[in-house]
Amino acid sequence: MGILDRHKVLEKNATLLLVCSLGVVTIGGIVEIAPLFYLENTIEDVEGVRPYSPLELTGREIYIREGCYVCHSQMIRPMRDEVERYGHYSLAAESMYDHPFQWGSKRTGPDLARVGGRYSDEWHVDHLVNPEAVVPESVMPKYSFLLNKEIEPTYITDLMSTHRMVGVPYSDEMIESAKADFVVQADPLGDSAALLERYPGAQVRNFDGQPQLTEMDALIAYLQMLGTLVDFSTFTPDASR
Ligand code: HEC
Repeated sequence: MGILDRHKVLEKNATLLLVCSLGVVTIGGIVEIAPLFYLENTIEDVEGVRPYSPLELTGREIYIREGCYVCHSQMIRPMRDEVERYGHYSLAAESMYDHPFQWGSKRTGPDLARVGGRYSDEWHVDHLVNPEAVVPESVMPKYSFLLNKEIEPTYITDLMSTHRMVGVPYSDEMIESAKADFVVQADPLGDSAALLERYPGAQVRNFDGQPQLTEMDALIAYLQMLGTLVDFSTFTPDASR
């Protein structure tokens, strides 16, 4: 009896075929899934990626509250047209501290994963206040009210502690200094040395150009850091994993 004849036995017996199929799928599943239980982390470590600073994290909350993700993705796919338009494809590590992640599922507007540094702060203020004034064909809503919404670091300690509970490595020191770090990031005259030590590469300045600290400051601080943490001139994917 050749191998094809033996296979005929399987093909002619529905119950036997079902049982054997189940067996094959089960073994395949175990082989794929079991190793993941023994890995501490499935995300490759990438130099430069760090948790969000208190002000950036607050800007991110505003981004989520305003539903920016409904029209904007933050995930550059590894395809030529995307990479040419937006830059290096997104790395898993770049959203490892995002809870919830902001990959999005629809692009009414462009991907924002690497929008940091692409425009000036003034451009962002003008654009958020009235997108059509900057891009005449824009269908993006106006967010001018953000300029009038002053913010204080009332809930930042709770917010960061919550992020720590879901795995973001905020240290006790980071949480204790959260309120001071929050304020100093938007104050170019303040002493930001400690902030920069805790959050390397954080950008310190008055983001919205107004003396008071507003939601506009926080949102622009967030937009301006998107995609800027990893230095792609020196980045090489770790081929050992
Ligand atoms: C109704 C859909 C919609 C929503 C909601 C929306 N946008 Fe947009 N956005 C667009 C469109 C369309 C464009 C492209 C035209 C333009 O530049 O205005 C755009 C462009 C942008 C750009 C310029 C990107 C680039 O690379 O040129 C930024 C930055 C931006 N949006 C930020 C935001 C933020 C922050 C929010 C939330 C506060 C938001 N958008 C909400 C539709 C939207």
